[in-house]
Amino acid sequence: MTPRRAAVGASATCAPKKRAATACGGAEQRDATVALLDAVPFACAAYASDDGTLMARNRRFDEEFAALAGHATRSGLLSELQTGDDDASGVTVDVQAPHSGRWYALHWGEVAIAGRAAALLTAVDISERIEALDSHKRRQEKLLFTSRLMSVGEMAATLAHELNQPLAAIVNYLNGSLRLVDQAGGPVQVERALQAARIQAEHAAAVISRVREFVRAREPRRDAHELASIAATVLELLRLEAERQQLRIEVALGDGLPTVYADRVMVEQVLLNLVKNAIEAMREVPVATRGLRIEGRVNLNGEIEVRVCDRGPGLSVEQSEQLFSPFFTTKADGLGIGLAICRSIIEYHEGRLFFEPRDGGGSIFGFTLPRAQGRS
Ligand SMILES: Nc1ncnc2c1ncn2[C@@H]1O[C@H](COP(=O)(O)OP(=O)(O)OP(=O)(O)O)[C@@H](O)[C@H]1O
Ligand SMILES: [Mg+2]
Repeated sequence: MTPRRAAVGASATCAPKKRAATACGGAEQRDATVALLDAVPFACAAYASDDGTLMARNRRFDEEFAALAGHATRSGLLSELQTGDDDASGVTVDVQAPHSGRWYALHWGEVAIAGRAAALLTAVDISERIEALDSHKRRQEKLLFTSRLMSVGEMAATLAHELNQPLAAIVNYLNGSLRLVDQAGGPVQVERALQAARIQAEHAAAVISRVREFVRAREPRRDAHELASIAATVLELLRLEAERQQLRIEVALGDGLPTVYADRVMVEQVLLNLVKNAIEAMREVPVATRGLRIEGRVNLNGEIEVRVCDRGPGLSVEQSEQLFSPFFTTKADGLGIGLAICRSIIEYHEGRLFFEPRDGGGSIFGFTLPRAQGRS
């Protein structure tokens, strides 16, 4: 606490022998100045124009600024308040006091005390105004963010609704075509292509129907599932992209890995997003260096932990801090919602989505899920 003074005197920096004779002297006028300053309802101080020493100040100034070591001279005070060059007479500048964290509007004016020119500082505490502004800004940002998320939700619902019918029709047409090719004993390549197209369309339809359920706030459908089988579905969906990049994908989800208690389509979505990001991260990496590994284990908390490890460029600290925020993307064609969706899904399952740098370069994106044992 700064010492509270019963009466406010002239500056302690005034040497006693000087007081009687010069600027700090003139006891009557000095007292009048101090009385005047004390009547002002905010911190005030007068600094001599010639050498910058403190000539007079009021009680509020003592209470609020005496704790600043440099307050006895104008330059000392200014350098501690870091006002830059904005200390010209008539200019008001907002600063945050380093010792108290409070905000002040500083204003300098010119006066004369006992015939000596001085710069009069008034420091009005504007902390409450700044706080109100900040919280208003924060509320606005939150509102904006929520409304963006809501629009994404609405967009997802609309898309899910609109795409449902055509997707069902595509699956039907593909089934019909497959039957025709089969009856005609048609080329095996056409049959394979149609089968691959059907797998993709069925997956899209399953995602869409789950999004619709999700939007209607239904419980996810949780059961016991083998992660190896979930990974096989996902890799089938990404086969073409992986082949195009000549990418080796190693899956180590172990025979003995316990089943997870989860909604299968949702976990497929998570793994699909993570593996897709990993593939995209290695676009610019030389073919020989590219490598993707999906591994699983039971962690110390008894949960199943899945890790997608790539040899991409990795992430800077700043990037890794924003990673899971919706709309964060470094890709020209990215929406930045892949990881945010993954996080919602994993947290819905009482799990955790995480990132860590990979030894030897690259990233590891992982998530945890509860074991099915004793739950399903
Ligand atoms: N494996 C990775 N290696 C390096 N950076 C990554 C990796 N995965 C994600 N990122 C970074 O995180 C950002 C956000 O990823 P996220 O999946 O949320 O969005 P996106 O991939 O940019 O777009 P989309 O919404 O289409 O998925 C990416 O733009 C990228 O900068
Ligand atoms: Mg992505």
